Amino acid sequence: MIVSRFTKRVVVLNCAVPALLLAWDASRNHLGANPVNFAIRTTGLLSIIFLLLSLTVTPLARLAKRSWLGTFRRSMGVSAFAYAAIHFNIFFWFDQAASLVDTVSEIGMRLYLLIGFIGLLLMAPLAATSTDGMIRRLGGKRWKLLHKLAYLAAIAGGLHFFLLVKADATRPLIALGILGVLFVYRMTARYLQLNRDSRQLRTAKPVAVGKPRNWQGSMRVARIFKETHEVKTFRFVPVDGGPLPFKHQAGQNLTLTVNIEGKPVRRSYTIASPPSRGHFAEITVKREERGLVSRHLHDQLHEGDLIAIGAPAGRFIFTGNEAESIVMTAGGVGITPLMAKVRYLTDRGWPGPIHLLISARTEADLIFRRELDELQSRHSNLRTTTTLTRENAPAWTGRRGRVTAELIREVLAQDANGRIHLCGPTEMTDPLIALLKEQGVADDRIHHESFASPSRGTVEANTAAFDHVAAGMATLEFARSGQRVTDLMGRTILEIAEAHGIALPYDCRAAVCGQCKTRVISGNVRMDADDALDASDRANGVVLACQARCQDQVVVEA
Ligand SMILES: Cc1cc2nc3c(=O)[nH]c(=O)nc-3n(C[C@H](O)[C@H](O)[C@H](O)COP(=O)(O)OP(=O)(O)OC[C@H]3O[C@@H](n4cnc5c(N)ncnc54)[C@H](O)[C@@H]3O)c2cc1C
Ligand code: FES
Repeated sequence: MIVSRFTKRVVVLNCAVPALLLAWDASRNHLGANPVNFAIRTTGLLSIIFLLLSLTVTPLARLAKRSWLGTFRRSMGVSAFAYAAIHFNIFFWFDQAASLVDTVSEIGMRLYLLIGFIGLLLMAPLAATSTDGMIRRLGGKRWKLLHKLAYLAAIAGGLHFFLLVKADATRPLIALGILGVLFVYRMTARYLQLNRDSRQLRTAKPVAVGKPRNWQGSMRVARIFKETHEVKTFRFVPVDGGPLPFKHQAGQNLTLTVNIEGKPVRRSYTIASPPSRGHFAEITVKREERGLVSRHLHDQLHEGDLIAIGAPAGRFIFTGNEAESIVMTAGGVGITPLMAKVRYLTDRGWPGPIHLLISARTEADLIFRRELDELQSRHSNLRTTTTLTRENAPAWTGRRGRVTAELIREVLAQDANGRIHLCGPTEMTDPLIALLKEQGVADDRIHHESFASPSRGTVEANTAAFDHVAAGMATLEFARSGQRVTDLMGRTILEIAEAHGIALPYDCRAAVCGQCKTRVISGNVRMDADDALDASDRANGVVLACQARCQDQVVVEA
């Protein structure tokens, strides 16, 4: 179901109805013998009710499989804050005669007031960050973490209510009971999710996904195609002809090793061609203005050249068996793993609906445009929607602006249970993931990948980690060889291992392939990203050596 702006406004207006009725009764002196007390109690109760409603929306949406219900979560939360604020204001202006000193001393003296006030303070940042813009600004992960405060606020509200009533505690106990049920639901859902993750790991077939480092060798550059002004596709074939020497799945990537100024440099690129075309592998690469490898590929690689390849790796796959439909959102060159899936599914005549949402800067930046038009005209189950973020040309009649929650909702409305795959810059994917989850879309439906570059990540993270190193706190010991390193200089475990001649496997250096997994025996590390880890890895202290930086005295299994 599409939730229009109008519907949302109607809901917000409905949330305001109790306040309007209260104001109406107050204006006519119909609030009983003690109007201030009546108004304080009513607004307080309303605040708790709306807070509980906002926490109920997500489980309800999931259980009822009505993801659009999640759209109302924020309206409920903001209403809860509004009623709590009115509740406090009536107390301050009418009960305490607007005296700051009296209000503070009253709050200090009575525990229930202090707890209630803390609840109000906890709700303030939640209300202030309840806009799409704030989700984008904070990033999905931080926003979600912040909004877990809603549980604390609800506990504070429930306790405040419980400690306030002197005679009949039924209503506060009901409120706390509902909160308890919601909390248990949340914990159980989390536990089941972790269980599912580890089951998936145990039952995973030992195909390419589990053993990404199947094949290493040279391939020949058969063709180079220009896709846009800054994107080229490179087609690799086996040196002696014949079928590909490795088996891959749609959405996996390969690792290229190129020699630049005498040094081997590795980068991961999605295999954009589908596994159904078994005689070549194509990668589609955007030339980064100051990028080491992408510039080398664009400027130095020619048809007929040989190139060192490791393949395949990655879990961002879709085989067609996981769900009956798929919604994919691509930002820029992030379209490559999604294109591999579109090509694979259409090659196979997969019957389910395939939605592809594409976001690009301008029309000139659209990759695979003609091919997608062609595929769409031949496969009625494929639908693409394109939005341009920087296009000023009046000739463009399509959508403009970023991929928004509304746009995703529109597509999801036609497809309530399919898989959702997102690939693009994290500034695009993180807030979208947060919005989807907020709308009640189950975690296991959402899959994403971002194209982190090893070199850029390292530079930023080095600076962040340097304080610990400068303070001389961090050391690293490799248990197998017994080597102990003290001059870590903010480097990752993988970088330190390389510098000390310890061979650790790796492929992507970008938290994607999982090749560099190692177990931390003792000590703490911090990872810039951990996408290749699953729940059971995390539970067993497994880390990604390419991302992990030591925070104290660390011993690793390697
Ligand atoms: C699983 C996976 C799949 C991928 N698939 C694809 C794909 O299909 N297509 C694709 O194009 N890419 C893909 N990538 C990204 C790719 O691996 C590289 O990260 C990308 O090509 C950039 O590498 P580079 O060596 O050219 O840039 P790097 O040298 O690594 O630089 C990274 C970025 O930093 C910037 N930069 C470098 N030096 C400076 C400086 N001094 N000041 C400011 N900025 C600087 C560069 O412009 C660039 O944007 C994928 C990545 C992963 C992890
Ligand atoms: S090298 Fe790929 S995850 Fe670390």
